[in-house]
Amino acid sequence: MPTIKNISFSYQEYESLSEMAPEDQQLIIEAGKAANHAYAPYSRFRVGAAVRLESGMIVRGSNVENAAFPSGICAERTAISGCVSNYPDDKPVAIAVTAINEEGLTPECISPCGNCRQVIAEEEMRTGKRIRIILSGREKIQVIESISLMLPLQFCRNNLRVNLPL
Ligand code: THU
Repeated sequence: MPTIKNISFSYQEYESLSEMAPEDQQLIIEAGKAANHAYAPYSRFRVGAAVRLESGMIVRGSNVENAAFPSGICAERTAISGCVSNYPDDKPVAIAVTAINEEGLTPECISPCGNCRQVIAEEEMRTGKRIRIILSGREKIQVIESISLMLPLQFCRNNLRVNLPL
């Protein structure tokens, strides 16, 4: 008989920006600015991400699409790449994500795709620090304490070899 295992997690949900800590409000506003900078002529779905680093620095990223569709990249991965490339020793502590469709800010939160979850998970692993995920919609805001909660049973560096040096 197999053992049945169960995975569940808790997250916070807010009804409006004003309920949040000023730092988180600021990060969401920065994500909104990044969404305005998106290059999304094909989907017309503009996504913005803003990462807060330990130092307080904020790094933005937007989705950048391409006529060769798979060459496009999501906002979250653009932002994380910006952090690693420019501030490799300053660890991300939070990422806010927001999106604009043809009617404006999406009412619902949008959630990172599988590829982005994998990349954010690698960043948590690289820095050894949890990254708070702040998903912002017009009607609610969800806060998840770590990407690992959103990507359980994840594939990671330890699966390749044990004690792989950084
Ligand atoms: N997209 C993101 O940038 N982040 C997400 O979390 C979901 C999707 C982008 C990819 C593509 O440019 C557009 O949104 C439609 O899928």
